Formats: sequence, structure tokens, C-alpha cells
Amino acid sequence: TGHFTFDPGFAATASTKSAITYIDGDKGVLLYRGYPIEQLAENSSFLEVAYLLLNGELPSEGEFKTFEHHVTHHSMMHESQKHFFRGFHHDAHPMAMLCSAIASLSAFYHDDLDIEDPEQRKMAAIRLIAKMPTIAAACYRYSIGWPFRYPRNNLEYCDRFLHQMFEVPSEPLEMNPVAAKALDLLFILHADHEQNASTSTVRLVGSTGANPYASVAAGIAALWGPAHGGANEAVLKMLEEIGTPDNVESAVKRAKDKNDSFRLMGFGHRVYKNFDPRAKIIRKTCHEVLDALGVSDPLLDVAMKLEEAALKDEYFVERKLYPNVDFYSGIIYKALGIPTEMFTVMFAIARTAGWISHWIEHHETPGSRIGRPRQVYTGATPRDYVAMGKR
Ligand code: CMC
Repeated sequence: TGHFTFDPGFAATASTKSAITYIDGDKGVLLYRGYPIEQLAENSSFLEVAYLLLNGELPSEGEFKTFEHHVTHHSMMHESQKHFFRGFHHDAHPMAMLCSAIASLSAFYHDDLDIEDPEQRKMAAIRLIAKMPTIAAACYRYSIGWPFRYPRNNLEYCDRFLHQMFEVPSEPLEMNPVAAKALDLLFILHADHEQNASTSTVRLVGSTGANPYASVAAGIAALWGPAHGGANEAVLKMLEEIGTPDNVESAVKRAKDKNDSFRLMGFGHRVYKNFDPRAKIIRKTCHEVLDALGVSDPLLDVAMKLEEAALKDEYFVERKLYPNVDFYSGIIYKALGIPTEMFTVMFAIARTAGWISHWIEHHETPGSRIGRPRQVYTGATPRDYVAMGKR
């Protein structure tokens, strides 16, 4: 392999030093800035976690109020940005719209942006965290032909988003505290996950000196795939396809068949080989949320049966394939009334906090270089050009 280490999929290569998130895949440990995910899930809020990821420390009351104030007051979309949506076909996937709309922020906040200035970097982070739910809700409303909603500054982050998603004219929307709390928890669990594909993408694009909005748009593109953030959408589609607990056995059989490309979506993880601590938290919450919202979803029965069948199957045990965070998140999103196509968008809202924290960390770290992987060349040896008529 010449002068380079050949490491397909970067399974053994640390691309950067980072002080943001720690994972021990064997022990099932996940820490944000040193704080266990279980404690943050129990006691914190998404916005506080976003502050923690960005700044390295939990905020004092005053610091939090200021941060919340900034996020609230940057949540509107530029009026001109609405024109971008009109160009999309009505059935465009919301991730396609989100990716483009976030990239378009670089056209609005570009000329005066100095990424060397720490204050301006923070400003970009606040803008992204603030505008992401507004733009996400616009993607949804555009897809169903509803008018966009302005963010309501008197609501907290998750309530504000749910309001923007579901409010219809002249029908006041009853805000459900259980829904907002469940959403907040999902956002906490998805806020960061060290150097996954989308975060690595944001860092790589950011390492070229690109605009933060363009860098995050690249992260959204990476997140979209079913092997990454697209898994939550794929899980629900799979559960719907399986349909009833009776069909679980044959689904497990198909997933084990190497001649069949079907995989159990929501199972397996590159790093977690014993369990995904996020899945543990979310599994419990899933039951509580469905109970509290009074939703009984037959897909939950399919999911439970599938989990049980896979966990005692030799194939899955041998390969250390356990349910990951996305196995249950889709069922909660569905119970909240979020349509399946929006699931990965929801993941993107949460992960924005992580992406932009990593982008900032890259720029804050002295000696950060442009990312430039090498390759092992497998092509032709040198040869002479042959004129077209002689080939
Ligand atoms: N169903 C059936 N077999 C599987 C699955 C699955 N979900 N996942 C892995 N395997 C098998 C795979 O075929 C391989 O078998 P063998 O050694 O016989 O060839 C072995 O397990 C190792 O798999 P791998 O693909 O080499 O593992 P990886 O680390 O490259 O991939 C993964 C990890 C998450 C992409 C993969 O497990 C997968 O595709 N899972 C389903 C998609 C999914 O749920 N993704 C969400 C990940 S968590 C959210 C996020 O961070 O984005």
C-alpha cells in the first residue's frame, strides 16, 4: 500500500483530535463534553445541550437566557428565501429541499462573513440552530401546499417547531407538553456523535475554508443516505412492509441471506458493538410517549417482535448487531404526527448543533489543515494515447 495505510471506510483512522463527544463502542458509553448521555437525556434540554456542545461547558442561567434569546430572535427565514421553495416540484423529498435551502443561506450571509472571527463563527452557529426548524417546517408545509408559518417567539424551541409544522389558520394549535418533551429528548440524543459520515463531511468541507452554511448543507447530503440518517425513514418503511408480527420471522431470514440485499434497518452500528446507549433510552421513552399521547401503533408490536427475534438469532448475535437509535425514533416521530419523509430532516435539525460545533472546533484549533485523504491506485499502468480511428 505504498506510503499510506489502506483503511477503507476509515474504520481505524482518527481524522482529527476532538474534545466534543466521547464514545466507547464496547461499553456503550456516550458523553457530550464529558456528560453522560443518560444524565443529559434525563435533566437537560436540547438548547442547553447545543450550548454545551458549542461552548464546552453547561451555561449559567444568564448565559442560557442570552443564548435562548439569540436563537429565538434569529429563527425567521429571510423573506426572499421563500422563493427558493417555489422552484421545487410539490413532491420533492424534504431532505432535497432542506439541503438546498441551507446551502442557500450562504448566499444571504456570505459577503460580510469572516470565519477567522470567533464572534462571527458563533453567530453562524446561532443562525443555523435557529433557522433549521423554520426551514424544516417550510419543507413540510411546501410539500402539502400549506402557507409557511412565522416562528412564534413566545414559544420554546420544540414547541415553536411543532407550531410551525402543524398550525392552520384560525384554528389555535393546542401545544402538547408530552410531544414537545419527546421531541426535545430525540433532539438531545441526536445532537452529536463524533466523526460519523455527516460530521466528517462538514469538517472536510469546512477545512477548505468554505462557508459554514455550505459546509452544513454538505453534512445534510451525507446524512440523507439510508446507511446513516436516512435509516429512521427506512426503519419505518421496513416495519410497514413487514406489516404484522407474523411476518417477522421471514424478514429476519431475508436479512441473513447474503444473496438478498435486504438488511434490518435500525440494526447494527459501526462503533457500538454491545448496545447503543441512545437506543436504550429511546426504547423506554417510546412506550411512555405512546401511552401518554394515547397512541396505539401496531408497528410497535412489529418492532418489539423483530427486536426479540433478532436478539436471539445467532447471525445477529455473532455480528454484534443491536437495535440502534433509529430503530425506535421513527415510531416516536410517527406518534407525534411527523410524516415519514420528514424523519431524516428531524435528525438534521438535532445534528446541526453537533455539525456546527465541529466546524467551530476545526477553525479554533491551531494547525488545522485541509482534509486530503490518499488512495491506493488500482488503475492502468502508463500507456500511450491511441487515436480514435485506431481503437
Ligand atoms: N442487517 C443484516 N446484516 C447486517 C446489518 C443489518 N442491519 N448490519 C450489518 N450486517 C452484517 C453485514 O452484512 C456484515 O456481515 P458479514 O460479516 O457476514 O459480511 C456484518 O454484519 C458487518 O456489517 P458491515 O456492513 O461491515 O458493518 P459497518 O460497520 O460497515 O456498517 C451500518 C454499519 C450501521 C452501516 C450497518 O450495520 C447497516 O447498514 N445497518 C442498517 C442501517 C442503519 O440502521 N443505519 C443507522 C446507523 S445509526 C444512526 C446513524 O448514526 O446514522
